[in-house]
Amino acid sequence: EKGGYDYFMAKEIDEQPRAVADTLLGRHTENGDLALDEVRLTDQDLRDVDKVFIVACGTAYHAGMVAKYAIEHWVRIPCEVELASEFRYRDPVLDRSTLVVAISQSGETMDTLMALRHAKEQKARVLAICNTNGSTIPRESDAVLYTHCGPEIAVASTKAFLTQLVACYLVGLHLAQVRGVMYADEVGNVLAQLQDMPAKIQTVLDGMEPVRELARDLADSKSVLFIGRHVGYPVALEGALKLKELAYMHAEGFAAGELKHGPIALIEPGTPVVCVVPSARGRGVLNDKIVSNIQEVRARGARTIVIAEEGDDAVAPFADHLIYVPRTPTLLAPLVTTVPLQVLAGEIATARGNDVDQPRNLAKSVTVE
Ligand code: M6R
Repeated sequence: EKGGYDYFMAKEIDEQPRAVADTLLGRHTENGDLALDEVRLTDQDLRDVDKVFIVACGTAYHAGMVAKYAIEHWVRIPCEVELASEFRYRDPVLDRSTLVVAISQSGETMDTLMALRHAKEQKARVLAICNTNGSTIPRESDAVLYTHCGPEIAVASTKAFLTQLVACYLVGLHLAQVRGVMYADEVGNVLAQLQDMPAKIQTVLDGMEPVRELARDLADSKSVLFIGRHVGYPVALEGALKLKELAYMHAEGFAAGELKHGPIALIEPGTPVVCVVPSARGRGVLNDKIVSNIQEVRARGARTIVIAEEGDDAVAPFADHLIYVPRTPTLLAPLVTTVPLQVLAGEIATARGNDVDQPRNLAKSVTVE
């Protein structure tokens, strides 16, 4: 039941620290190996993998986009991510050394299932990341990593997304480890950083009151734009998707670098632009670049809502609203930067009188192509 919340999505947003912790639980074996569920692939099969293809839809696709950054960085093999509905009609080049990762909360999404079947026909190995035990997608896969976020009732995906990210990180680390690209202690360091994430997500959740206020203020906006770079780009897309499906409001996410190639023409005085800023450390150049993107949109009258890392002072002068998240390694940052965008969308939808859990025209599980 809703446990005192007005709607399931609010409850599911609040469950995210636990969901992330549960998905991490028991993954690290005593000898330093990572344990996946139902792996019918040998370590040798995984060593033979020379390319990863991620297929998914909607929010799960955004998790896949984040995974591409992590997998290529850690495993040093090419990783493509593609919408499942496009994948199989495009004649993708696959063989038995391709690992196809199908991400699906429900495990029943028809487009993802069809992409998986197409991949298997081409002899690719298929690994599923799924939240539903025994559903069709994991049943038809060679290996499965379950996300342990519990049932997700609200149509809009929140806690499933965060746990899909965790599962993708684990797959990346596992591949890096079996292929000998990362040593056990390096993997251990990232796992320790992942273990810190539930507390950081909780910190974000505890500071959401200003976001709720802001949401009431934005409820009558015509359109909201989202920009990000690096892993902040899929987060921007996810923030825009949440707003579309819940608030029925025009929203679009862009790679911040693309602004000048067209979308900046959309900015009118007062247009809200949500900016997802990468860590000021580690990816310093990217941080500088997005700060100048924020300046550009602000110079054209945008109202800037900036999600940045605590201590990032460079963005403050250009932010009409500044939402800080705890300091986090760049690749893991989506686990914290997504949360304010979920809350924002849910609260704008509420202010507009929408049914947050059951948005119009949508089904929780899309079992038609
Ligand atoms: O069950 P799946 O993860 O395969 O579902 C994929 C999409 O239909 C799903 O993520 C959808 O985009 C959500 N409504 C987004 O909040």
